[in-house]
Amino acid sequence: MQIFEFEETDSTNLEALKLYKSGAKLPFWTRADHQSAGKGRHGREWVSKTGNLYASAVYPWTGEVGDAAKLSFVAALAICRTLEAYELTQAPQLKWPNDVLMNGAKISGILLENIGGAVIVGIGINLLSHPENTNYPATHLLEHIKPEALNDAETIFTGAAIMLPRLAKEFDDGFKQFLNHGFAPIRADWLARAKGLGGDVVVRLADEDFTGQAEDLLTNGALRVRLSNGTVRDVYAGDVFFPVQQN
Ligand code: BTN
Repeated sequence: MQIFEFEETDSTNLEALKLYKSGAKLPFWTRADHQSAGKGRHGREWVSKTGNLYASAVYPWTGEVGDAAKLSFVAALAICRTLEAYELTQAPQLKWPNDVLMNGAKISGILLENIGGAVIVGIGINLLSHPENTNYPATHLLEHIKPEALNDAETIFTGAAIMLPRLAKEFDDGFKQFLNHGFAPIRADWLARAKGLGGDVVVRLADEDFTGQAEDLLTNGALRVRLSNGTVRDVYAGDVFFPVQQN
C-alpha cells in the first residue's frame, strides 16, 4: 500500500483529500514530519511538532455513514496494538470515543472524516513530545518505555516513518476484520482495553456537562452512561473525562 510522505504539510487529512480527488489508488496513507495546521476533533488544533507521528489513511467506504464512524474504534485498536509492541511500563488504554491513553494521559488522537466514497482516518501519536495546556492531559511514548529498553526503542522504533508501516498493517487487518465479521469483535477488543468502565465519568457535550457511570459501548458505537437517578443516556458525540484518577 502506498505511503505518500511529506516533510511538512498543513494537515495530512487535507493532503489525503487532495490525493483522493486527484485519483490516487485506494487504500493509501499520507504522512508528514510536521503539520502547520493539524486538525483535532471538534475544530480544535492538533499541535504538530516534528518528532511525532502525523498520518492519514484513506480507505474506500460505500457502507452506511454511521458504520464508517466505527472505523475510529478500529483505528484506536490498531494504535494500541502498535504501541503494545514496545516494552512499556504499562498497557495503553482506550477512552471513548477513540483516544489512546498511557497512564491516564492522551498519547494519540483520531480524526475521522467521511468524504463520500471513502473515509479519511487521521492519526496523531505523540512519540517524542506532547503539548502542554491541552483540553485533556497529554503524554508521549518515550515517557512510557521501560528504561532498560530505551536505547533499542529510541533507535529502532520511535521514528514515525518506521512506525507507520506497522500501524498501517494493524489498521488494514482491523479494517478487513470489520468488513468480514462486523463490529462485534472490534467492540469486544475495545471493551477489554477501555479505561474506567463502571466508574464515574463527566461527559462534556456542546451545550452541557453531566456525570454518570460509563456502562457500555453499544453496538452502534455510542457510550451508555447511567445517571445517579438510574436512567441511561447514550452519548453519540462529546468528550469524556474521568473525575478522579483511575488506572
Ligand atoms: C483529536 O482531537 O483527538 C484528533 C487528533 C487527530 C490528529 C491527526 S494528526 C494527523 C491527521 N491530520 C490532522 O490534521 N489531524 C489528524
